[in-house]
Amino acid sequence: MRTPVIAANWKMNTTIPEANNLVSQMKYKLNLMENIEIIICPPFISLSVIKELLKGTSIETGAQNMYSEKEGAYTGEISPQMLRGLCEYVILGHSERRFYFSENDDIVNKKIKSALMYDLKPILCIGESLIEKESNKTEEILSEQLDKGLHEIANNKDLIIAYEPLWAIGTGMAANGEEANITIKFIRDKMAQLWNKTTSDALRILYGGSVKSNNIIEFVSKPDIDGVLVGGASLKAKEFLNIANQIDNYQQ
Ligand code: 13P
Repeated sequence: MRTPVIAANWKMNTTIPEANNLVSQMKYKLNLMENIEIIICPPFISLSVIKELLKGTSIETGAQNMYSEKEGAYTGEISPQMLRGLCEYVILGHSERRFYFSENDDIVNKKIKSALMYDLKPILCIGESLIEKESNKTEEILSEQLDKGLHEIANNKDLIIAYEPLWAIGTGMAANGEEANITIKFIRDKMAQLWNKTTSDALRILYGGSVKSNNIIEFVSKPDIDGVLVGGASLKAKEFLNIANQIDNYQQ
């Protein structure tokens, strides 16, 4: 049995007071949900405030990125050592980092290795573009992202993989649940080859891209989809609670 995950990726949104306010509106209700693992990923500057706010709850936190080095002359970067204690998870390889900040699979690979060394659990994002999808390259692209991103990384059940097709992110054009399940099954089979079947059966693989309260069941009702990574809809307390609640109830 894999515990379903709902992760909120706030991206570059919320000031510290806004972050505080958003979590305050949701935390009591989220904490009552016993069948799901909840991860909030605010901007770096709000991590410590939110960690404090969530003390005594089962809600976890995640960073949205990090640098692979432990410390040093890397102006503007945040290291895994700095994140330790502030969050359990770290999102790595998000398509927006790959696109706007030229992160490639080798960089992502270094970051994953480094995160694991500091006991941070990576949420590895992979996904194909619309052009790649339309030219039937989805499986090839995902395979390559997994091969390179996880190069020389040993079996680890703490890894979460998020399948986020680029064409579904922030577009309101979510993937079809059936299709997403087929792709996520492909990812799971690929992980069985890369690592082994026992680990791949235990890995949580999420869907992300225009998830909302009106389509969540389409995803979490599928056997290979173990939860969701939510962007835009995670910035509205009522909407995020609604999504989380539906997943929590679905499992019972
Ligand atoms: P949206 O839910 O806004 O489409 O974003 C998805 C995403 O990128 C989560 O990481």
